[in-house]
Amino acid sequence: MKYRMLNEQMLHGGDYNPDQWLDEPGVLEKDIELFKQAGINCASVGIFSWAKLEPEEGKYDFEWLSQVIDRLYENGIYTVLATPSGARPAWMAKAHPEVLRVNECLVRNEMGGRHNHCYTSPYFRQKIWDMDYNLSRRFGAHPGVILWHISNEFGGECYCPLCRSAFREWLKEKYKTLDNLNHAWWTAFWSHTYTAWEQIDPPLVQGENSCHGLQLDWRRFVTHQTADFCAWEKQAIRAGGSTLPVTTNFMDFFDGLDYRKFKDVVDITSWDNYPRWHGPDGDIPAAVHAAACHDWIRSVRHEPFLLMESTPSAVNWQPICRLKRPGMHELSSLQAVAHGSNSVQYFQLRKSRGCSEKFHGALISHDGTGNTRVFREAACVGKRLADLSALCGTMVSPKVAIIYDTENSWAIDYSQALLNGPGNKHYLNHILQHYEALWRMGINVDLINMDDDLSGYKLVIAPMLYMQRGDIVQRLRDFVQQGGTLVGGYWSGLADENDLCFRSFAPNGLQDVFGLYSEEIDALYPEMRNGLTWENKTYPVQDMCDLVQVQTAKVLGVYSDDFYKNQPALCVNEFGQGKAWYLCSRPENMDFYRKLYEKIVAECGIPLPFGGAKLPENVTVSERAGGGRTYLFVMNFNFAPVSFEIPAPALNIETGKTDAVIDLGPYEIKIYEY
Ligand code: GLA
Ligand code: ZN
Repeated sequence: MKYRMLNEQMLHGGDYNPDQWLDEPGVLEKDIELFKQAGINCASVGIFSWAKLEPEEGKYDFEWLSQVIDRLYENGIYTVLATPSGARPAWMAKAHPEVLRVNECLVRNEMGGRHNHCYTSPYFRQKIWDMDYNLSRRFGAHPGVILWHISNEFGGECYCPLCRSAFREWLKEKYKTLDNLNHAWWTAFWSHTYTAWEQIDPPLVQGENSCHGLQLDWRRFVTHQTADFCAWEKQAIRAGGSTLPVTTNFMDFFDGLDYRKFKDVVDITSWDNYPRWHGPDGDIPAAVHAAACHDWIRSVRHEPFLLMESTPSAVNWQPICRLKRPGMHELSSLQAVAHGSNSVQYFQLRKSRGCSEKFHGALISHDGTGNTRVFREAACVGKRLADLSALCGTMVSPKVAIIYDTENSWAIDYSQALLNGPGNKHYLNHILQHYEALWRMGINVDLINMDDDLSGYKLVIAPMLYMQRGDIVQRLRDFVQQGGTLVGGYWSGLADENDLCFRSFAPNGLQDVFGLYSEEIDALYPEMRNGLTWENKTYPVQDMCDLVQVQTAKVLGVYSDDFYKNQPALCVNEFGQGKAWYLCSRPENMDFYRKLYEKIVAECGIPLPFGGAKLPENVTVSERAGGGRTYLFVMNFNFAPVSFEIPAPALNIETGKTDAVIDLGPYEIKIYEY
């Protein structure tokens, strides 16, 4: 990132909706005072302001926004300026219903809610162009504006006639002929062959849902259309003269879109993080999930990112909305920074009085004061961030990558197999099991997709790589050939990018790499388990059991039950200069993954934090480095103190003291230079 402010200072801010308080100007002034007390240096403004910015068609009122931006700037607070396409004004919905989305039952929405417009509608595109162009002309050169926040949490799809016809055009462009399309989609099955482009519809509730090639292409089209809409907004901003960077806020492992396709549309990635802290299983599931998602977002552009939203206390939309325990706000905020964020921002800076988010956490609550635990804890984050400017130019650069690929997740979802189907929850949850083992060792990981370059990694983990797209087979082969270590396993290498099965045993093209092939795969009911016996211990396994025929691989573990008892369940193979591990089933518990990765990490020579410190349970480390300096964030996810020795003393950059023993209070995070 090479932009004013974003490179110089950690941002501390959040969504701010002064447009809800225009009849009480004192509120803005009071809020600004409180922002200063909390070390807030930026506010995201205008996200849902269309009705205030264009109260009547073609009549713009930017005056109030201008005053807000000025007042914030005069007080040292920058503006992240949003385009308002996340929600539309009522006049627009009534006068131009084509902007309203049509659902997969072909029913058109009425006015209401948000995030539900047609991204194809020429009228909607024209209106947002005019809006963004005008905002850009008016505010693009304002010294207080530092970043464009395009729309809000893009997602969802529209099945209106405009979108359906755009889909057909997209297909024509992709396939050129119907013969190509019919072959790719295998439409001879059930006599679904198309003889005219007009016959093709998206997957509809009462229509086609058995053609996986169509389903995948529809998802790709929705991604294309949404990214194109985002690019359109960016173009309007550029046409208005602003050269400021743009971002759009992504969601937690959202797979309705393939975020990789936004890589070159946005200048910076950002996302909204709402972990489920303090659940019945404690904090570790949330900590691991959040860490992995930070890594996934960072890996879109392999650059520092922004935490665009997080709640200062509780949300209002989880099944149970728990308060963050004391210390958790600071820990979870700085966890984002530890994984590569250059900001901590909130939804929301001030709570609304009415409608669906009136009980969502905020920096300033309905009392309108700073006299709360939540405010004080946020102010502590502000204080710490103010001293961390040196970290803005640093980056997380892991030696380990896990492939978590969105198109693969779609394909697994659609595959109609075994577990009907294994479902992408299974895919993500299994990915997170591998991830957690490394997280517990304090080893940073990139979460990449299968198009990413593999060459900088020592270890690539590619569980359930069901779909093989592009030249992934060749790149995995080269990676191992040249000395890399690959971990793969069941449900891999079965289908191509159209979900057409390969005419070979799985894993396609990688049999010699793994030294085995899969002949059959068994599925287990949710309550069933088999076992994987490895070095005298049996680990329960669930979901799927791959029955493999070994060629050159060494069998390390075997199944403990059923007709395939004693058949291979864990194998490793030497290939070229490298090694490939194959896990035939899904171990249920972390003890297996921890043992596996302690072995693999040692074999690969991947360094452990602090040159080999043994971390206490639920304590982890993340590293950011740059400009010849390396910073280690040490995080205690226990609500209890811990203490551990490190091989050589390290400098705590915040206290200026050198520690040979690291003491962490409950939920404490410390930052060392190493
Ligand atoms: C999302 C949205 C915000 C708000 C929050 C509530 O992240 O972008 O507008 O609704 O959720 O948690
Ligand atoms: Zn549409």
